[in-house]
Formats: sequence, structure tokens, C-alpha cells
Amino acid sequence: MIKASGLTKAFRTHSTEVLAVDCAHVEVKPGEFVLILGRSGSGKSTFLGMLAGLIRPTTGSVRIEGIEISNLSEDNIAELRAKKIGFVFQFSGLIPTLTALENVMLPTLFYKNGPGSRISAVELLRKVGMSEREDAYPRTLSSGEMKRVAIARALINKPALLIADEPTGDLDVDTEYEIMELFSLLNKEGMTIIMVTHNPDLVKYATRTYGMHKGKIQQNIGTVSFRKDQRE
Ligand SMILES: Nc1ncnc2c1ncn2[C@@H]1O[C@H](COP(=O)(O)OP(=O)(O)OP(=O)(O)O)[C@@H](O)[C@H]1O
Ligand SMILES: [Mg+2]
Repeated sequence: MIKASGLTKAFRTHSTEVLAVDCAHVEVKPGEFVLILGRSGSGKSTFLGMLAGLIRPTTGSVRIEGIEISNLSEDNIAELRAKKIGFVFQFSGLIPTLTALENVMLPTLFYKNGPGSRISAVELLRKVGMSEREDAYPRTLSSGEMKRVAIARALINKPALLIADEPTGDLDVDTEYEIMELFSLLNKEGMTIIMVTHNPDLVKYATRTYGMHKGKIQQNIGTVSFRKDQRE
């Protein structure tokens, strides 16, 4: 489905260089539900951004269904993203001048004749518990509500791959549970999911976990190594 090889991102600011992602090798097969855990600043968002072609790597490659994305033009990457990838940003990234429903429908403009429609947008808002706020503008929503609208928006084109950056970060435990059950169902129906979280309790939903530490990514880090009390 998606394969990152030697993926590296260095951010240069006049005097310093931050190695945000350091030579990541990750392969995710269709139907997997992969969780990435790691401390703040460890490079998780940068890694997800490169997987989706939103951030250009310093070195290394990303292949999506065998296609090397660095060989594609910006337009072709955008098209690939619209058709194959749903992306939930860490900070919801809703368009302030559009209502919740309009925000959810926005990606259908970039995938004409795709599976998304007004009916499916209404249905998705119901699934994330936001039916009553269809006509609300983002500024009138709480951050957890904005997150839920952003999740619906990421799902509207029925992506084969969902990449979600802390999608439940602003949610209470009950709403988090509902969202994770939704993701779990979508995964069982065939959607591949790559998700960043700070909550080690969510490991039970994953088929595989990765840990990130200072830009380095390692496979199969269990929950234990994330609990400071147990690590030290
Ligand atoms: N545009 C940028 N310019 C310079 N440095 C950056 C930039 N984006 C990220 N960084 C740095 O890269 C490192 C990794 O950042 P990143 O946002 O990927 O971390 P993260 O694991 O997602 O953290 P969090 O859990 O807080 O969201 C950090 O040290 C950050 O300061
Ligand atoms: Mg982040």
C-alpha cells in the first residue's frame, strides 16, 4: 500500500538544523491499522506529512501502490491524495468560511464522480456525532467538534488509506471510543489506517505499532516503553 524508504527530513533555520525524521523505513500493507506513538517533537507529524506528499523529504522515498511520489508533479500528487488518501491534520485545518457540512463536502470537488456526495457527508457527520451542527461555522465549534468534522472530511472520498494525526487528541474518552470504533469498522471493511496518538490504551485497535523517538522510528514498541513510570 505505502512504503517509506530511508525517509529523512531536516529543517534548516539560519544557524541550526533539526533532523525531524531520520532515515525511516516503514512498509504498510493493505488492511493494516498502524499506530505511531512517540513524545512531542519526535517527528510524527513530519513523517505523516511526507507519507501523504504534503512535506517534501530531504532524502528518501515514498511509494504509494508502487508509485514513487517524488516523481509526480504537485498536481498529480494532489490528485493521488484526493482519490486515495484521507488526511486528518493535527490541527483540524477547516476552512473558516465554510459550514461543517460544506467542509466535509470540500474534498468531493477534487474528486469529481468519486464516491462522495451530500448524502454521504450528512451520514458521516451523523457518524461522528455532529449532525446537529451541520450548518455551524468552525469558529463556533469546540476543538473536539472541529476534529470530528475534520475526520468526516477525511473520510468523504472513501479513501483506501486514512492517515490521521492525533484524531482523538481533543476528545473525551466516550467520544474517543466512538471514533475508534468507527475507524475499527472502516478498517475491517478494508481501509488501511496509519494513525498517530499519545494514548497507549489505543494500541489494542492496531495490527502493528511503531514508536518514534528523536526522529527515529522503530517497529513494535509496545505500550510499556511509553510509560515513563515503567521505563525508569
Ligand atoms: N517547519 C519546520 N521548521 C523547523 N522545524 C520544524 C518544522 N516542523 C517541525 N519542526 C521540528 O521538527 C521536530 C519534529 O516536529 P513534529 O511536528 O514532526 O513532531 P511531533 O512528533 O508531531 O510532535 P507533537 O506530538 O508535539 O505533535 C520538532 O523538533 C519541530 O520543532
Ligand atoms: Mg505532531
